[in-house]
Amino acid sequence: MSTQAQPQPTHLIPAPAAYKVGKGFVKSSALPWIPDLWSPTRSLSLDTSRNCKIVKSKRVLHRRLEGRNLADWQLKSAYWLELGKKGVKIEAADEEGVFYALQTLKMMASVDSAVNCCTILDWPRFRYRGVMLDESRHFQGKDFVKKQLEMMALLKMNRFHFHLVDNPGWRVQIDAYPRLTKLTAWRPEAFFWDWEKNRTGGLFAEEGTPEAYGGYYTKQDIADILSFADERYIEVIPEIEMPGHNYETRAAYPELACSLPNGGKDPWELCPGKESTFEFLEKVLLEIFDMFPSKYIHIGGDEARKNNWKQCPDCQARMVAEGLKSVEELQSYMIRRMERFAHEHGKRIIGWDEILQGGLAPDATVMSWHGIEAGLKAVGEGHDVIFTPTHYYYLDYHQDSAQFRPVGRYLPLEKVYSLDPLAKGISMADAHHVLGVQGCLWTEHVQDAWHAEMMLYPRVFAIAETGWSQPEKKDWPDFERRASALSAVARKWGYTVYPPSLQ
Ligand code: ACM
Ligand code: ZN
Repeated sequence: MSTQAQPQPTHLIPAPAAYKVGKGFVKSSALPWIPDLWSPTRSLSLDTSRNCKIVKSKRVLHRRLEGRNLADWQLKSAYWLELGKKGVKIEAADEEGVFYALQTLKMMASVDSAVNCCTILDWPRFRYRGVMLDESRHFQGKDFVKKQLEMMALLKMNRFHFHLVDNPGWRVQIDAYPRLTKLTAWRPEAFFWDWEKNRTGGLFAEEGTPEAYGGYYTKQDIADILSFADERYIEVIPEIEMPGHNYETRAAYPELACSLPNGGKDPWELCPGKESTFEFLEKVLLEIFDMFPSKYIHIGGDEARKNNWKQCPDCQARMVAEGLKSVEELQSYMIRRMERFAHEHGKRIIGWDEILQGGLAPDATVMSWHGIEAGLKAVGEGHDVIFTPTHYYYLDYHQDSAQFRPVGRYLPLEKVYSLDPLAKGISMADAHHVLGVQGCLWTEHVQDAWHAEMMLYPRVFAIAETGWSQPEKKDWPDFERRASALSAVARKWGYTVYPPSLQ
């Protein structure tokens, strides 16, 4: 076997910080020295037998990492792995590091039938390594979400941004406002573009309507997903959109619109002039806070056109009372007020980069989606940023030339891989404000689970590597080789992966 004669390069994604090949190799089928290696979780009962030694000690790992100057959050995820013919040794400061060491072993043993003996010293570059899933335009369901969380864990990704509500459907149970799901979680047409004819929004179907398309997550579903994610060190961050992207909310509760005929020309927007809008949002958020332990709540903030607000007597009265000079400032008033509410409940807000308009809420984290520039501006003002730029990380953009109802731009794997968010003029002193990176799967064009996964993979592999690996370890030709090997394995596991060779 060639593996015996000549060590093969590893197929690990993300590339580890330091990898040294040793003498000899271990058959992957022999690795069940390690219990449950094929599905490692936080609560794995760790076998510390002769063949599998696990040392959980800050002191020991610090010695390995001497001179590296890592932050505490990096140390928590860091690990040392030593794979020899007779066994494996893992050193980590925290169980999270042990978990990532096991993901490394799982990936090596899954991709190759024999793994080189080696030593690996590894730690993450960014603390936020995320995937966003749009559940509103296409509803994926619990099993799909868990399947993607499993792949995220293998890729050492640790944030799942759950885009739960938007114009085409509300997807989470809220007891205080049952009409949200009863009236707007289903619709007659499954495919988004069939529903949104003429871009004005379509009709919904009441829960129980025969053949209607849709669904929502009950509180029990959310609890199941959260426990699955937590077992894999993944934090789930829910998004409740405001003030735009609220067509469905207004369909369920029309009184939340501006005081204009039909609620105003723009059918998406809530009215920030009315106290009842804040009462609604706060009650919804209280239930969301009860469901999701994340310290973050994503409050949307994108693409509010604000035209209604210029005419609405309630909005105008609010602007006079609060001394607001523009509708941008009115939006900022709303976001700041929601931030205060979030703080009162021990939470911090994240918003899309439009929350910079009219003045940014003091402690807000910005998701930079229009490009890199909004993120640079926010960092310059001392805010934390997560980079999700459309041109690099919007996974609804097509990978091929013409198939699968392409959206806007061509976004092949190499382009996704090419982004380095810190290469864009962020100083060393400000780098800690860049929390990390996230791929976003918007689902306007998604028809089913097969299609959704094909849009995710292999591009999520590239985002995982940018999020975890040290920049000097990034290497496109080598990544392409590794992505191709992992794609083949992922297909065997039942994932749909777009063939990189067709890009
Ligand atoms: C967005 O793509 N509207 C955040
Ligand atoms: Zn209004």
